[in-house]
Amino acid sequence: MQVELYEVIKTRRSIRRYKPDMVPREVINRILEIATWAPSGRNWQQWEFMVISGSKKGELARSYGRVVEFGMPPEGKRSPEQESFLQWARTLGGAPVAIVALTRVHGQPGTRKMNLESVAAAFSYLLLAAANEGLGTCWMTGPLNNEMELRKILDISTDKEIVAITPLGYPDESPEAAPRKSLDEIVTWIGFEE
Ligand SMILES: Cc1cc2nc3c(=O)[nH]c(=O)nc-3n(C[C@H](O)[C@H](O)[C@H](O)COP(=O)(O)O)c2cc1C
Repeated sequence: MQVELYEVIKTRRSIRRYKPDMVPREVINRILEIATWAPSGRNWQQWEFMVISGSKKGELARSYGRVVEFGMPPEGKRSPEQESFLQWARTLGGAPVAIVALTRVHGQPGTRKMNLESVAAAFSYLLLAAANEGLGTCWMTGPLNNEMELRKILDISTDKEIVAITPLGYPDESPEAAPRKSLDEIVTWIGFEE
């Protein structure tokens, strides 16, 4: 059991090219339900999700495209890598579905942090559940750089905070794993014998 969990964790990749096939609603429901098993600060379960398909998904993608294009050289002066990243952004890689995770806005910094971390935990679970179903995802905060537009497209009220977005669909690529830092670089052991 544990081995399977570790396998899913290690083989999940950010997918930026998708097949057009629709994901059945029951599968989407299954991964959303798994997300709700994440821990949450004070068990408030302060997460909400929007599942988006059709024209609104297209608007979402085009909005992210504009964010990405804004930080790039003009057309004709872009590298092939930049062009392909822009193409991914403008279309969300052709994914049939996008999921937006939200939480309640909170003015108190500690509580805001607690709420954001709870949603991030749920989002991690969602990504792993999707991987377990053979589905691709890509955690994105880039689109939030045009948050006002997103709010308008999806009619999100000001008492909600947008946390993250992911496309969802069947992968049409199998990217190499990005290298990970070694534990030596990131772990400090305190109170242990050498
Ligand atoms: C908080 C967060 C924000 C991210 N935002 C974006 C994004 O806006 N666009 C994108 O293409 N990838 C985004 N990513 C995906 C990362 O680039 C990716 O997770 C990282 O390169 C490691 O690759 P892997 O997910 O395949 O292991 C984001 C990931 C996280 C965790």
